[in-house]
Amino acid sequence: MSFLKNLSWRYATKKFDGRAVSASDLDSIVEAIHLAPSASGAQPYHVIVASGELKNQLIQSSKQIGKIDASHLFVFCTRTDYPDRAEKQIALVAEIQGTTIEALAGLRTTVDRATLVEPSALRAWAARQTYIALGFALAACAELGVDAAPMEGFSPAEFHSILGLPEYIQPVVIMAVGYRDPADPAQPSMRKKVRFPKEDLFDFRAE
Ligand SMILES: Cc1cc2nc3c(=O)[nH]c(=O)nc-3n(C[C@H](O)[C@H](O)[C@H](O)COP(=O)(O)O)c2cc1C
Repeated sequence: MSFLKNLSWRYATKKFDGRAVSASDLDSIVEAIHLAPSASGAQPYHVIVASGELKNQLIQSSKQIGKIDASHLFVFCTRTDYPDRAEKQIALVAEIQGTTIEALAGLRTTVDRATLVEPSALRAWAARQTYIALGFALAACAELGVDAAPMEGFSPAEFHSILGLPEYIQPVVIMAVGYRDPADPAQPSMRKKVRFPKEDLFDFRAE
């Protein structure tokens, strides 16, 4: 199955060769993030796709990232502007699916249950949804033959300031994309991937 082959091909690339990812591949990655599922369909995230000088400034702001010659930097942020966002979501569902806001009382209850919690729990919930979007982006990159490095080792506060984001939008994880340096010894064809054995991760049960 080519999907699994592509997942074996991918690795968290740190050595890029400086080539730019095409606009159409970027569109496909964005589309995968857009189609990612989220609890209650709430999509409590915002993704900035930085390139050029802004990308360089972001990379240089965080010593942990090191020198990477990526084409673009995806900055995955949580958003916690509830209950405003829930109202927008309900109106959007009504508009797209041709129903009334009143008929969506069930959705309102679900979204309210998920989001009307204390701020730290809301941020944690939003982060969980955001990481699903990151997973879809990483899988899309693998399918497209685009190399990608997910990273939590960066300075969210620096990124927040450089990007001039409001309080309710907070960077949580980033993904650098580009093309691997063909001589990078860390790539899976030169260095074996390490994963815990399946028995360690899975437990098939029938009762
Ligand atoms: C959410 C997340 C955060 C990560 N953060 C970092 C990071 O800050 N720095 C880093 O060098 N690698 C980071 N990685 C890469 C992992 O170390 C890497 O994915 C893991 O070792 C598996 O290797 P592979 O992706 O090459 O198969 C991160 C990966 C994920 C999924």
